[in-house]
Amino acid sequence: MPRIVVFDEFGGPEVMHIVDEPAVEPAAGEVRVRIEAFAVNPLDRMMRSGASPAPVPLPHARLGVEGTGVIDALGPGVSGLRIGDPVILTAVPDASARGSYAEYTTVPASRVVARPVGLDVTQAAAVWVAYSTAYGALMEKAAMRPGDNVLITAASGGVGRAAMQIANQIGAVPIAITRNSAKTEKLLTAGAAAVIATDQADTVEAVRHHTGGTGADIILDLVMGPGQQDLVRAGRPGATLVTAGFLDPRPTPFPTGAPLSIHTYRSFEHTLDPVAVGRMAAFLQAGVRLGALRPAIDTVFALDDVVAAHRHLEEGLHTEGKIVVTV
Ligand SMILES: NC(=O)c1ccc[n+]([C@@H]2O[C@H](COP(=O)([O-])OP(=O)(O)OC[C@H]3O[C@@H](n4cnc5c(N)ncnc54)[C@H](OP(=O)(O)O)[C@@H]3O)[C@@H](O)[C@H]2O)c1
Repeated sequence: MPRIVVFDEFGGPEVMHIVDEPAVEPAAGEVRVRIEAFAVNPLDRMMRSGASPAPVPLPHARLGVEGTGVIDALGPGVSGLRIGDPVILTAVPDASARGSYAEYTTVPASRVVARPVGLDVTQAAAVWVAYSTAYGALMEKAAMRPGDNVLITAASGGVGRAAMQIANQIGAVPIAITRNSAKTEKLLTAGAAAVIATDQADTVEAVRHHTGGTGADIILDLVMGPGQQDLVRAGRPGATLVTAGFLDPRPTPFPTGAPLSIHTYRSFEHTLDPVAVGRMAAFLQAGVRLGALRPAIDTVFALDDVVAAHRHLEEGLHTEGKIVVTV
């Protein structure tokens, strides 16, 4: 019988366990996907621990907002997709009911796109959340242009790496921020034009240095917290600040100083819009085809080791890229 990861109470990784349940038939307009692999995201940890902004009904909550697999069954009225098509899930907004941590899930047919040719299964499992978020924040919100100096926090993470690759793909200049100078070489290899390590350098001075004195055009803040003040001071007058993550739980003072355009990005803004999804998928396909976009994978776990996969995330050991679980 198909296996599904569920949890019945909020807590540490150990609250997750695997149950056997019959596969659900897809309803009208839905497809059933046989999942081959899924990526582990910070949102999964928030849902599992009870820290998610959206309510997670217990018991028997599921997890997983992205993954890849093949179409296994079509609900009534679905056209344009065939059984056996390799796909990626673009959004699982009701992840606590249909999450991708499972051998099968059903989703509306509009929530799958063709698996980009040129990615293996583990890369395909990890591509959508990171790249659609980076694309949505930088391209759709900040209207990034070639030549823009783009400051990227949490650049070592999944979204940060995707943001660096996307900036390079269009000819912008990604300036990576890390808290740890030991990561500098890895970030340069991952595509950073310059790296600012906040354990060694003053962010504002370093940005001035790397931008010839003008400051950053775009600031992608995936961290928030008090450190955002320095990012804002490092922007040129009229710069665009896009906040898309919240890795630092401390309060974030309201940005003051130079005039800024401020946006908050949530990926469901675009991933539920079929026209925007089409643009994102086309951009992604082109980037993969050109070799500009390539998801970095840190560690691959088996489904039986899903608890260990979450421990790896909690301990911040995923320094090489995304954590993926194969099913
Ligand atoms: N808006 C959306 O729709 C959306 C979609 C996806 C993700 N997100 C959010 O975006 C953020 C990044 O996601 P991700 O998947 O890229 O995360 P990730 O892969 O787990 O990022 C890990 C990196 O972030 C940095 N980091 C971790 N905690 C930090 C802290 N307290 N202060 C500063 N840096 C910290 C670390 O880099 P260093 O050690 O090098 O500093 C770490 O290597 C998360 O908050 C996530 O929830 C939002």
